[in-house]
Order: sequence, then structure tokens, then C-alpha cells
Amino acid sequence: MLGVFYGYLHPLSMDVRVLFVCLGNICRSPMAEHVFRSVVAEEGLSRAITCESCGTASYHIGEPPDRRAARVMAVHGIDCSGKRASRIRPSDFDDFDYIVCMDGYNLDDVLSMAPPGSKAVVTTLLDGDVDDPWYTGDFERTFREVSTGSRALLERIRRERGI
Ligand code: 4NP
Repeated sequence: MLGVFYGYLHPLSMDVRVLFVCLGNICRSPMAEHVFRSVVAEEGLSRAITCESCGTASYHIGEPPDRRAARVMAVHGIDCSGKRASRIRPSDFDDFDYIVCMDGYNLDDVLSMAPPGSKAVVTTLLDGDVDDPWYTGDFERTFREVSTGSRALLERIRRERGI
């Protein structure tokens, strides 16, 4: 990277890595991943902050996002066609700086998997839970919640990392 080449770390060459986590990785966390990525791009920070998503459960590994989630994202101009579901791995606690959970159950599951000494910040996207549209059917509401949460998360990361 340019910053490394010149012997100092320019803020825009700092790679902050964010992992969004829900249960199945087909509804909420893929929406958070793609919405957050577009918010980061709007701010011109795509090279400084990158993100992925995964689930705590294995039910849907390899599947694309739920078609209702994909449709709501498409309505808002966000393409998620390349996304395939995966499950959280122990190495994620080394590979990511922020692990951002969609609800309190995900948070408990992720914290129970964290290896001793893990430096990743484990947190939730909102102060409360992101409603699970798998059960509510309200994907627009989930889109609004992940949009609000993504903007707040980006502000937090910028503040904490001085970006
Ligand atoms: P997600 O939603 O965790 O937001 O991806 C769910 C997807 C699938 C199931 C539950 C929640 N499921 O039970 O298969």
C-alpha cells in the first residue's frame, strides 16, 4: 500500500475490517454488509474500511441472500448478486477489527466463540435488536434499521480510528 511504501500510515490506506453477523446470513447481515459498503463508498472510504458478513448457524451456507432481502436492496439501488452465505470461523476474530451483531442472541453466540485474547471489538449494530425479517416479513423495516445502524457505525469507526 502507498502508506506503507512511504513509511507512514496515511488514514485512507488504513484497512479497518468489519464483519456483520446474524443467524442465517441470508437476511439481516447481508443487508447490513451491502448497505454499510454503499455508505462507506458514498463517503469515499472504500479503501480504508472493508466489510463482509456471515451467520452463526450453518443452515444456509452457500445460498444467496433471501430473494425478499435482495429485492428490497435492489429497490434501493444496491446489488448483492455475488453474495453467498457463510458461517463465522475462529480466524474471524483475528481477521476483523469490528464484529457487529444484529441481535442479542447473535452477540451472546459470538462472545461465546471468541478465543481468549481476541482483540476484535464485538458489538451490536443498534442499541436494541435489528428485527429479523425471516419472522416479521418486513424487509423494508429491516432495510431502514440497517441503514440507520450503518451510518452510526461509520461515525463510530471514524471517531475511534481517526479516519
Ligand atoms: P437472518 O434470518 O439471521 O437475518 O439471515 C434468518 C434466516 C434463516 C433462519 C432464521 C433467521 N432460519 O431459521 O432458517
